[in-house]
Amino acid sequence: MSDIINLLPDSVANQIAAGEVIQRPASAVKELLENSIDAQATDIKLILKDAGRTLIQIIDNGTGMSETDARMCFERHATSKIKKADDLFSITTMGFRGEAMASIAGVAQVELKSKRPEDQLGIQIEIEGSELKSQTSCACSKGTSISVKNLFFNVPARRNFLKSDSVELRHIIEEFQRAAIAHPELALSLHHNTSELFHLPKGTLRQRLVGIFGDSYNQRLVPVHEDTTIVNVTGFIGKPEFARKTRGEQFFFVNNRFIKSSYLHHAIQNAYERLLPKDAFPSYFINMEIDPKTIDVNIHPTKTEIKFEDERSVYAIIRSAVKQSLGKYNIAPSLDFEQETSIAIPQNKSREEVLMNPPKIKIDKNYNPFSEEDKKDERRKQFGPTSPVLSVHDSFKRNAESENRRKGEGEREPHHADSQLEIEIKPEQNAQQEFNIEGEKTTKTSAYQLHNKYILAHIKTGMIVIDQQAAHERILFENYLEMVENHTGVSQQQLFPQTLEFSASDTVILKELHEELQGLGFDINEFGKNTFIVHGTPADISDQNVFELLEKLIEDYKSSQGELGAAKKEVVAKAMAKNLSIRSGVPLTKEEMSHMVDELFACRMPYSSPTGKPTLITISLEELDKKLKK
Ligand SMILES: Nc1ncnc2c1ncn2[C@@H]1O[C@H](COP(=O)(O)OP(=O)(O)OP(=O)(O)O)[C@@H](O)[C@H]1O
Ligand SMILES: [Mg+2]
Repeated sequence: MSDIINLLPDSVANQIAAGEVIQRPASAVKELLENSIDAQATDIKLILKDAGRTLIQIIDNGTGMSETDARMCFERHATSKIKKADDLFSITTMGFRGEAMASIAGVAQVELKSKRPEDQLGIQIEIEGSELKSQTSCACSKGTSISVKNLFFNVPARRNFLKSDSVELRHIIEEFQRAAIAHPELALSLHHNTSELFHLPKGTLRQRLVGIFGDSYNQRLVPVHEDTTIVNVTGFIGKPEFARKTRGEQFFFVNNRFIKSSYLHHAIQNAYERLLPKDAFPSYFINMEIDPKTIDVNIHPTKTEIKFEDERSVYAIIRSAVKQSLGKYNIAPSLDFEQETSIAIPQNKSREEVLMNPPKIKIDKNYNPFSEEDKKDERRKQFGPTSPVLSVHDSFKRNAESENRRKGEGEREPHHADSQLEIEIKPEQNAQQEFNIEGEKTTKTSAYQLHNKYILAHIKTGMIVIDQQAAHERILFENYLEMVENHTGVSQQQLFPQTLEFSASDTVILKELHEELQGLGFDINEFGKNTFIVHGTPADISDQNVFELLEKLIEDYKSSQGELGAAKKEVVAKAMAKNLSIRSGVPLTKEEMSHMVDELFACRMPYSSPTGKPTLITISLEELDKKLKK
């Protein structure tokens, strides 16, 4: 048999390399920005069409390239940044692999124009799928302009794998912001189609952050500064009271290179300990200046992961630097979230009080969800479009109450206080209802709440145990989905419309979700750059929570983007349900439980929550008998 091993042609090798480095338009943007930064540009313009699918153009005023270099830069392993293996341990540039330009040219149509300050004429090169198309002299200004057209024109699988324009644009904005924060000394702009998304003149880091995230950031930032022999830490952290519900603004840089590190993230989280509410994320923009000899950047082609020689010390230094800042700027002692949020809330009522004065909730006592006349839609009309079980507003309030009660009373309060009450309250006359479970008609008498978490109910064959949170999520999900699909959400107009400011990438998401939000009853309009005016909200959501709720929706929407084929409407309904449902730990009244059970069984899919968790289990008498008698 003859020899069978071939050396791959460059064009194929480049495409393979591109698979690692250039996954989407944003990766090309990252590489191009880094090259311009390495070329000591002071002004960089980025121009995009169709979220970078059809055009990514970068124009810099950097060193430019000679004719030979301009041709060479598209070769694999061609770099001006390192010469020998040793150089890998003293990297001071963003690039060093000599692969990015070759990879981009392997999967796109690229036009490059470049001129060094000392040259009269510049050079223009066109290259397509690694194949040189033309090379001519040209009159151009000092620096380099690179146009990447029709990315993945020759890799349909990659092209088809790209997400919607707004998703791709968001990834690009993310990369752009990383470079912009790492280099406030650079003037940067970003144009997309016909609009300018960012225009950032050179300035200080504070000015840069304000330029990117909006004026309100000025008062939110606390400086961090710590010089040690191992690492110098500089940057800003966000005041705890401005902590966000979305994970967005967390940036680590090492020698001005953006990196991801869950380990160091933990150091910061740890420094904020107890200063943040449970579901809030601190903002931070931290640069670590460190001797390149003590780190290894070369562990991943995209260079966003880094190995530190002495990771533990870096952790400790970051943690203490952040702690110090929080202390120095008088944030730590003056803030006590537990105090600030605990509004005077009535404690659990005594049994006598409850018996004398049972909680009132608007319910239709004669309603039977399974009688033929009383179809689900009818009922919805009767009770309004949102959950008749507990309005969302109510569930917000009750979640907060239970949270506060827990905080306020610690372990003193017996969890089952309510449950004990239940036993003694006389079952309601009409609590006797029939409902279907697994095809079987069964009888429900009164429900009973276990540990403020599960609803126990009697059924003919035994009992069911309902997870109140999962069940309420299911109920709300179906309600909201209906609203989003049919635009039936009722909007309550605000007396004083609120102006809310979001980051550029969150703005992209909000715009993308505009129709769905409208369907739910949000009346929101864009008002200038990254600013929105809320004229109305879904009728049962109290207005103080709008910003928080929208942030949570955005966060959930972002994290659902990985899910294949997740329909926008469903994602929004799911996020609403998740964020507004009654939590575990919230005491429910008998009526509320009864309604929750009814509502649950009126759902199309009562047996699982929208995230796939079971909402209930049944335990048959047989099983109980077996267990108890043996
Ligand atoms: N905007 C630019 N201005 C001046 N020179 C550039 C520019 N872009 C690229 N070059 C030159 O082209 C070379 C190849 O660029 P390329 O991005 O492929 O490799 P690199 O930056 O050296 O390493 P990496 O693959 O890690 O990015 C660079 O080393 C640099 O000399
Ligand atoms: Mg490079």
